Amino acid sequence: MTIFEGEKARLRPIERTDLPTYVRWFGDSEVRRYLAVYLPFSLAQEERWFEGVLERIERRSDAILAIETEDGVHIGNVGLHAIDWKDRHAELGIVIGEKAYWGQGYGADAIRVLLRVAFQDMNLHRVVLRVDADNARAIRCYQKAGFRNEGTLRENVFRDGGYINQFVMGILAPEFVSGE
Ligand SMILES: CC(C)(COP(=O)(O)OP(=O)(O)OC[C@H]1O[C@@H](n2cnc3c(N)ncnc32)[C@H](O)[C@@H]1OP(=O)(O)O)[C@@H](O)C(=O)NCCC(=O)NCCS
Repeated sequence: MTIFEGEKARLRPIERTDLPTYVRWFGDSEVRRYLAVYLPFSLAQEERWFEGVLERIERRSDAILAIETEDGVHIGNVGLHAIDWKDRHAELGIVIGEKAYWGQGYGADAIRVLLRVAFQDMNLHRVVLRVDADNARAIRCYQKAGFRNEGTLRENVFRDGGYINQFVMGILAPEFVSGE
């Protein structure tokens, strides 16, 4: 199996057998909080999602990988979505579903590995993401991985009874330092 190695994170393909893990992760409101996921998912929904993902990976509009620790614990997923092969950009999404692993550098390392693939193998030019303005841990993680703030989408998300700003953050291929 192809595995991309980072300093602490490893990326591998996602498998159908991972789906019960996703049901557990997204059953936790703390994990869902900053994602566009406001209800827990059933296994049946995850199965349908997985079929869609397989199709998008084959069509090359998405690239989604599982994040594992050095010792093979599956802690999250990271992916590129809406890949545009003409303008050469894509949107990054990430979740570390195992909360015990938050804040230990796995997120930033997994993103660096995915950016290496995006810029050095897929020949993308730009990777962009949106992050809730109150998600300080994620913003710090993205800054560590080399993303810059590009602007504010005012009151773009409704959560916890109110509207929240989102930041657009991006990184261009020439700005990426692979660390190799
Ligand atoms: C966002 C997420 C992917 C980041 O991954 P991670 O492995 O936790 O991030 P990292 O450890 O690489 O980096 C987080 C940084 O924020 C810091 N941090 C942690 N909590 C923080 C807080 N409340 N405020 C500010 N910084 C914080 C950490 O100390 C670390 O910085 P440091 O290495 O300089 O000390 C992960 O926490 C997660 O999946 N959260 C839930 C879902 C989510 O928010 N997804 C992103 C949606 S845009």
